[in-house]
Amino acid sequence: NAQLILDLENTIENIPDFPKPGIQFKDITPIFLNPKLYEDVIADLANFSRGKVDAVCGIESRGYLFGIAVAVALEVPFVLIRKAGKLPPPFVGVKYDLEYGSAEIEMRTGQIKPGQRILIHDDLLATGGTTEAAARLVEKQGATVSQFSFLIGLQDLHGEERLRQFDADVYTILDYKTF
Ligand code: PRP
Ligand code: MG
Repeated sequence: NAQLILDLENTIENIPDFPKPGIQFKDITPIFLNPKLYEDVIADLANFSRGKVDAVCGIESRGYLFGIAVAVALEVPFVLIRKAGKLPPPFVGVKYDLEYGSAEIEMRTGQIKPGQRILIHDDLLATGGTTEAAARLVEKQGATVSQFSFLIGLQDLHGEERLRQFDADVYTILDYKTF
């Protein structure tokens, strides 16, 4: 997928010092201006997961942009993991720590089943805090996290190491390193 990596490098915009000084923001919105590139991204992500998962969980909100299409390509269910307070009951939640304060994510009860092999998908792996919480939420319901996939991995933040505890395959299409 060397061509796909090049295409993404040329399409994703780097915005320095947004939303805070020192942060290099990766803007993925230009991908959606190019349907062929979007299709190639979905095909690549689907190829990683084909035959290996029973459902896809996508993390609000940018995890929905590709996650649903991957689930459709794999012909498996797509389950939304939402930020707290948006889903009607019954739902299950997991709290997790942020740099300042804490956050919570939730999922409708029963949408993933005990024993299922789950792909957790998001657009970006940074510290891995959000994804780790998502994996706990999946395990809380008796399912197994088999795979994680992302468009982008920010290698400096060591998210991949944080996900090792889950014994699942991790795939990032494109990696950024500063050092
Ligand atoms: C961003 C990104 C990932 C998460 C990665 O989402 O889309 O979900 O942060 O960070 P982490 O690995 O350090 O947890 P954000 O919370 O900005 O929300 P959005 O997807 O709704 O834009
Ligand atoms: Mg997000």
